[in-house]
Amino acid sequence: MLDRQVTLSQLKAFEAVARLGSHTAAARELFITQPAISKKIRMLQEEIGLPLIDQVGRSQYLTEAGQMLLEVCSDWLGVWGRFEQSVADLKGVKRGRLRIAVVTTSGYFMPRLLGPFCAEFPGVDVSMEVLNRDRVLGRLSRNEDDLYVMGLPPDDIEVDCRPLVENPLVVVGSSKHPWTRRTSIPMSWLAKEQFLVRERGSGTRIAMEQRFAEMGVELRVRMVLGSTEAIKQAVAGGLGLAILSRHAINPLSGGRGLVELPVAGFPLRRSWYLVTPQGKRPSVVAQAFLQFIDEHLEMIEP
Ligand code: PGA
Repeated sequence: MLDRQVTLSQLKAFEAVARLGSHTAAARELFITQPAISKKIRMLQEEIGLPLIDQVGRSQYLTEAGQMLLEVCSDWLGVWGRFEQSVADLKGVKRGRLRIAVVTTSGYFMPRLLGPFCAEFPGVDVSMEVLNRDRVLGRLSRNEDDLYVMGLPPDDIEVDCRPLVENPLVVVGSSKHPWTRRTSIPMSWLAKEQFLVRERGSGTRIAMEQRFAEMGVELRVRMVLGSTEAIKQAVAGGLGLAILSRHAINPLSGGRGLVELPVAGFPLRRSWYLVTPQGKRPSVVAQAFLQFIDEHLEMIEP
């Protein structure tokens, strides 16, 4: 009986009329005509065998059966709505766009995740911007991407952030540097060395300057270079020392001619963070990527 004839669209029409108190308002909300609403409710009443709505003058009242059906409808339509959302979400992962912006140094490991992620979700179109911290923050403040990776989350933009993996900053020298034979080097010796540093706005540079200031050691800048790769080449060529993320000098990142020097006070222990604007609900594709990262963290450990 009931289960054969009552349709979802009849229940939606009834719920809208009961909630809004008028056929006209319900018709407007559901994008159908008023006679179509009346017909659905008439058929629903016939199926149930009791009146659901009483018309007194121009006002409408729910009958007792109508009250009971409204409760059931509200619960059931809520469950149905969540089901429809989940189905849409499942479809969403098949197709969609993922926008990520990462700071320069995380460009050494984040792209490694993209190959297997795209293989698992071939319909997803991924773009990854690799920029310095300042420019990533600019994109974050304009809400241009689904998620961001950086070593130093902002304190002037409301964000949700969670630690990803370690980001140790180490002192790097040429493999021909005389300190490579030492087992430990006092931090104060750094004051005698020349450094190759990243441009202003770089997170690595901010962390490095903070550590030198904390330790009361003067930072002597030999040259400012806007790229970590250029710094690595200059250090390997014997132009000076640098403070770099261990991610940038590991064998996968091409650390030829470079060594990590055992300076006291280093590595500078930091983390990489996954950052999103506070309260931003991640898209289905972004959620799939976040879960993918959780399951493949070993691929990006330093
Ligand atoms: P950077 O940022 O690549 O801009 O130096 C790295 C970091 O924040 O650790």
